[in-house]
Amino acid sequence: MTQSPTKPPRGLARNTAGYGDPDFALYLRRSFAKSMGYSQAMLDRPVVGIVDTGSDYNNCHRTVPELIEAVKRGILAAGGLPLAFPTVSLCEPSLFPTSMHYRNLAALDTEAMLSAQPMDAAVLVGGCDKTVPAQLMAAASANVPCIQLVTGPMLATPFQGERLSACTDCRRYWAAYRAGAVSAEKIAGIEERLATTAGTCGVMGTASTMACLAEALGMMPPNTAAIPAVHAERLRAAEDAGARAVALIEHPIRPAEIITEASVENALRVLLAIGGSTNALIHLTAIAGRRGIRIDLARLNELSDTTPVLVDLKPTGEGYMEDFHSAGGLPALLWELRDLLHGEAIDVTGKTLADRLRAPEFVDRRYIRARAEPVSPVGGLVSLFGSLAPRGAILKRSAATPALFEMEARALVFDGLADLAARIDDPALDVTERDIMVLKNAGPLSPAGMPEAGYLPIPKKLARAGVKDMVRMSDCRMSGTAFGTIVLHIAPEAAAGGPLALVETGDRIRLSVRERKLDLLVGEDELARRRAAWRKPEVPARGWDRIVAEQVLQADEGCDLAVLR
Ligand code: FES
Repeated sequence: MTQSPTKPPRGLARNTAGYGDPDFALYLRRSFAKSMGYSQAMLDRPVVGIVDTGSDYNNCHRTVPELIEAVKRGILAAGGLPLAFPTVSLCEPSLFPTSMHYRNLAALDTEAMLSAQPMDAAVLVGGCDKTVPAQLMAAASANVPCIQLVTGPMLATPFQGERLSACTDCRRYWAAYRAGAVSAEKIAGIEERLATTAGTCGVMGTASTMACLAEALGMMPPNTAAIPAVHAERLRAAEDAGARAVALIEHPIRPAEIITEASVENALRVLLAIGGSTNALIHLTAIAGRRGIRIDLARLNELSDTTPVLVDLKPTGEGYMEDFHSAGGLPALLWELRDLLHGEAIDVTGKTLADRLRAPEFVDRRYIRARAEPVSPVGGLVSLFGSLAPRGAILKRSAATPALFEMEARALVFDGLADLAARIDDPALDVTERDIMVLKNAGPLSPAGMPEAGYLPIPKKLARAGVKDMVRMSDCRMSGTAFGTIVLHIAPEAAAGGPLALVETGDRIRLSVRERKLDLLVGEDELARRRAAWRKPEVPARGWDRIVAEQVLQADEGCDLAVLR
């Protein structure tokens, strides 16, 4: 019943509570665990923690209870003791002001529980946009052997001769409704059909992108990113994740060995090749930052110019995640990209990428293109720099209108979300389709918490006149399911006193995607005058909001908290 002085502690003997008497602490822990009905034999097993993000607020995690049952089966069969524990669960549409405001809270909670509780390995069960990055950030810092398991994408639903899934189709139909092209009755009917199964959004939005990046990084077993949430295969993947977690105890491979410069660059290549979400760049930057790896936006441009887009899914193409999975999934994509990837990167199986890549037996080329016939010869994302974005900004060129890539135009500025909501549909709004709409005070430091508001709606009067796209720019984010010529993540943000804070309606802005430039064409004297008049936003009085306001970093640093890097 006492701890061995020679062997490192294992299972429940790890991290004993600080009573100053480790043997008593273990004795007490075991006796309390026995109150849950465990036998001594069970308590002697190595422990695999399971991060449980099931929540009645999180539709994307509806299947978490059955996934955990399957993970437990795998752990028990492999000789481990499964112990699930709850952590913060974040669902995109359920949180005010935005789920991004709480990603670091979920990361902090998960890291603390991975570190404090006794476990030899862990399975991280997540899915919705912010949970997977939060779990990977936590794993990178706690450095406990971990396997990521995602809930998986929902299935698309047939509807009047097409298919629907959250949430590109939500945005497409809502834009048509705003433009008067879809009736109130039809938009209400579509609401019933957009998300009909459990799982994460069914397009290549942020959740799907992060699942693909988790697999590309090596933190998830091969070919599990895109298995639909409701397929039996998803449950088998969960059982397998449990068994693999037990295997990691005997032959530990820690996140520090998996999340390396090589695997991060592989993940960036995948992000570009799938035409993935802009949000994923922030999350990957934060995950890499936990291991001291910096993602350089200038390097992103080099990678983007040499990485073709090969996956053809919504929001930029036509397919859904279920199509991607049945087309061959991430292994088929990695095979296409193999000469661009670092083959030495290892994953949770302990194999290098070069060892595990095989020519796929079948690939559906409608969804995963060959290198000779890419969706686009260059990657989906570019970073822009200039006097309006000294530390960079992002444009998803694969979801934008090339005719708007080179322009100099008048700025129409909204001071924040309330101003945007109050004026965007005002018939008297002075706006033309050649203006650049600018939203400020919506970055990570702002009270808005960096929402997905970068997809500024086209003013109703222009939408009704048939305008489908305009240049829009801001310091906030955009849903991975959205599209348009939209410049995001301008850094430093307005609330940090960046040049964006100084832009006024009527200023000229020059955008050049070709030159990767974003400039505010206002003289230095005038900017100095405006800068002198600028006031820092007030810091909230207490709680999480105050911690964020004092600690959160800018987009080019992944919006992590400074103390957590
Ligand atoms: Fe959870 Fe889209 S709302 S993945």
